[in-house]
Amino acid sequence: MSKGKILVTGGAGYIGAHTVVELDAAGYDVVIADNFSNSTPDVLDGIERITGKRHSFMEVDCSVREEMRRLFETHPDIDAAIHFAAFKAVGESVEKPLDYYRNNIDSLLFLLEELTRNSRAGGVVFSSSCTVYGQPSKSHLPVSESAPLQPAMSPYGRTKQICEDILSDTVNAANGRLKSIALRYFNPIGAHPSALIGELPRGVPQNLLPFVTQTAIGIRRELSIFGNDYNTPDGTCIRDYIYVCDLAKAHVRAVERVLKLNGVGESLEYFNLGTGRGLSVLEVVNGFMEATGINVPYKIAERRAGDIEQVWADPSKANEVLGWVADTPLEIVFKSAWEWERKIRQKI
Ligand code: WQD
Repeated sequence: MSKGKILVTGGAGYIGAHTVVELDAAGYDVVIADNFSNSTPDVLDGIERITGKRHSFMEVDCSVREEMRRLFETHPDIDAAIHFAAFKAVGESVEKPLDYYRNNIDSLLFLLEELTRNSRAGGVVFSSSCTVYGQPSKSHLPVSESAPLQPAMSPYGRTKQICEDILSDTVNAANGRLKSIALRYFNPIGAHPSALIGELPRGVPQNLLPFVTQTAIGIRRELSIFGNDYNTPDGTCIRDYIYVCDLAKAHVRAVERVLKLNGVGESLEYFNLGTGRGLSVLEVVNGFMEATGINVPYKIAERRAGDIEQVWADPSKANEVLGWVADTPLEIVFKSAWEWERKIRQKI
């Protein structure tokens, strides 16, 4: 007996696919909506091999109103939605701001139009980002949900802030009919232990761990560490790296909460999803080498424009309210990323 039907927009993406797997394990039926702008149909095969089920799929560009409408006409029995579908490359957003504003904002607008128009769905979980905090002041580290929001450092970050405001206004106007949770991710890393799904960066990886694994396997000659003259213990930037499977499990808890509390309490809640542990770039690189025994050649390069110096989460609200903890040991996380890199290179 299914616990309900959950729409996952961007469900063929990195975090989306891992969340579909955890929703399945928790007993939900899933509708995956994706246009493969940052993923491939192979991901659906990976999900099926892990879960033993081919969940419903519709190829949908969520930023096209008619396609979103067709999705809800095809699935009028959606009980809740998790909205991942968005462009997410910080650097690319600086080069193509209009693409990011149109895609990321229209996708949410059209989803909310359907959820508030005539859908029976009672909840929506939104994929937000710690980027809304910018560089917290030292007194606000680790960063909690009550920390002041800062002007984002990129159009990507600004779309997340704008979308949180759209969500807030929409659920407030819905008079309790629509419960919502915004999940502010820190830095997702790693891959499912089966090595059947994982991160698929397009072109040269922008994020740290995919660049590390591609250097480890020999695709990249060496890793550039962007700056070691920051005001941190080893001079490199600090982030809160969270295992993608732990992150996915938090989405199941959030869906359960919006379904259970529809019409009760705050219409929109925010949760920081991190481990509560800050790691420097050098600690990640050395930790990866220790966990896998693979050497990763690197050099110290210039700072990267737009990088903040240090941010990590205070996850206590998610721990207490969602009953969720990100506790997978780093060694397992690094090994999962390495196994995934090796697996996809066998195919390519
Ligand atoms: C981490 C650290 C780099 C690559 C971004 C988005 C955030 C989220 C996660 C979507 C930084 C350093 C990196 C490299 C390096 N995305 N680095 N050499 O910038 O913290 O966050 O991705 O939700 O919203 O802003 O992640 O992995 O790019 O960088 O030295 O080749 O690794 O300078 O200090 P970031 P990242």
